[in-house]
Amino acid sequence: MTDILGLGATAVDHLIYVPTYPPPNVKSYVLRSERQCGGLTATALVAASRLGARCAYAGMLGRDDASQFVAEALRREGIDLSHLVTRDDAGPIRSTIIVGTDRGTRNIFPEHPAKCGAHPTLPPEHVIRDTRVLFVDHVGVEGMIRAARIAREAGIPIVSDVERDLPGCRELLALVDHVVMSWEFAQTLTGAGSPEEAARRLWAPGRALVAVTCGEDGCFFSEDGQTVRYQPAFRVEVADTTGCGDVFHGAYCAALAKGMPAADRIRFASAAAALKATRAGGQAGAPTLEQTLQFLHAHA
Ligand SMILES: Nc1ncnc2c1ncn2[C@@H]1O[C@H](COP(=O)(O)OP(=O)(O)OP(=O)(O)O)[C@@H](O)[C@H]1O
Ligand SMILES: [Mg+2]
Repeated sequence: MTDILGLGATAVDHLIYVPTYPPPNVKSYVLRSERQCGGLTATALVAASRLGARCAYAGMLGRDDASQFVAEALRREGIDLSHLVTRDDAGPIRSTIIVGTDRGTRNIFPEHPAKCGAHPTLPPEHVIRDTRVLFVDHVGVEGMIRAARIAREAGIPIVSDVERDLPGCRELLALVDHVVMSWEFAQTLTGAGSPEEAARRLWAPGRALVAVTCGEDGCFFSEDGQTVRYQPAFRVEVADTTGCGDVFHGAYCAALAKGMPAADRIRFASAAAALKATRAGGQAGAPTLEQTLQFLHAHA
């Protein structure tokens, strides 16, 4: 049995470091460049896998170089790809990121393939019924809604990381029992004036938990849509916050699969995300179970 099944976004980021971000029509020599894997679902699964969860990815990839790069990265992290959906016109989101090293600026140029994330009718139903937790994002919404319906029917908890109000996303959110959303998007979606208010507005019948994450300002969460509790962010020396939200989601899923109570899940996820903030890179900075438990012990 799988602990966490993911179907959504995978990404390949090509980072190009230049001395300064250039004005138009300038030749700018590259100091160094690197390729990294990212994407909401891919990073959440990598984080959960390092935290000891058995994870599977069953969304779409293609046959191109970028798809192979993602598949290899996921495999290396022990993520099961036996139900991966391969299509010629599918692939990860590809972003070119130009980093101006003088001021630390990042200009991001994302390219979406024709198909990405969840397939509308795959993986087969039994694959979805065979997981402890289903993780959904907004990439491949039609397939996400299908998978969420199957999981709901089977009584499998669904955790979401929805960051865009695309067609179908509200229908998807109505099927989710664990809504974990960044304050930035929660504000856009609900019009709330505070994260506490957003947590209440995001509440709906069938929810088990709503959490609104506020970066270094921590996280507000509710288990009944009325009482909202607060988990501060752990104070750390920040190196790079790329992927903190994704690691938080992955760690939350891992804790849920283990049957931890709500406040412990949120604390565990906050610790994993804080550790990630102390390291460079998205997936590369996700901590192990041992490191996270040690960190929690030291901050008890
Ligand atoms: N600088 C930080 N220091 C400590 N913890 C942090 C920091 N930034 C984020 N976190 C932790 O990660 C959680 C999620 O971060 P955030 O709210 O920024 O998610 P996000 O906006 O979805 O980020 P992402 O851009 O990675 O998707 C926070 O609630 C907090 O627990
Ligand atoms: Mg996020």
